[in-house]
Amino acid sequence: MMLDLRNLVSAYGNILALQGVSLHVKPSEIVTILGSNGAGKTTLLMAIAGLVPPHQGEVLWEGRPIQQLTPDQIKALGIGLVPEGRRIFPEFTVLENLRMGAYLRRDQEHIREDLERMMELFPILHQRQSQLGGTLSGGEQQMLAIARALMGHPRLLLLDEPSLGLAPMIVQQIFEILRQIHQQQQTTILLVEQNAHLALQLADRGYLLENGKIQLTDTAANLLDNEAVQRVYLGG
Ligand SMILES: Nc1ncnc2c1ncn2[C@@H]1O[C@H](COP(=O)(O)OP(=O)(O)O)[C@@H](O)[C@H]1O
Ligand SMILES: [Mg+2]
Repeated sequence: MMLDLRNLVSAYGNILALQGVSLHVKPSEIVTILGSNGAGKTTLLMAIAGLVPPHQGEVLWEGRPIQQLTPDQIKALGIGLVPEGRRIFPEFTVLENLRMGAYLRRDQEHIREDLERMMELFPILHQRQSQLGGTLSGGEQQMLAIARALMGHPRLLLLDEPSLGLAPMIVQQIFEILRQIHQQQQTTILLVEQNAHLALQLADRGYLLENGKIQLTDTAANLLDNEAVQRVYLGG
């Protein structure tokens, strides 16, 4: 198992955001977590990335507990987070934002090659490389946030609602790039989405998270066919 969450509990004060979540991700899988607003999706990704402390339970990375590590230590293990709302650095250029994604790496000599690879993967970032992050469109910022995470050479990419607030055409482009990254690098992906249709088309498996609890898990194909999923998440 690459990632294994065991009975994870997280709270903000007395608000229980995660009420004992168990899930796993195998190498090279694409796994999606679906859930409505407030379900606990962001908290779950932040707990994996070490940004919110779990109150109970374990986060196992290749069998070792990592829930006590700092965010930088977790990132250095190969877990890259693309946060909700992109969180790029608006006052830095596209190129500077990308370089910041690589700040923990020891192999600084390979960064130039990786920058070139990002420019190929995201041609729009090539055109905009000297522009300030804050002047990019929402879709461009999302691409920058993904590229920045990839600059850290993650083996597991955590994505928090990459489609949020973006036009359907841009969302299609972003999902196409995710598919490409997965094919080229076998990067394992844990994708949080409200756009269930898109997420289930990309993913191998999925989990439904509601009120901080996993309600259902199955293959993506079965979830697409599931009546409850269709009613609640696919507007069917
Ligand atoms: N910083 C915070 N302080 C207090 N409550 C929070 C905070 N962040 C999230 N919550 C609460 O935790 C629950 C889960 O939130 P979140 O993980 O953001 O859900 P999702 O990403 O699925 O919308 C919600 O009830 C939300 O209101
Ligand atoms: Mg969220």
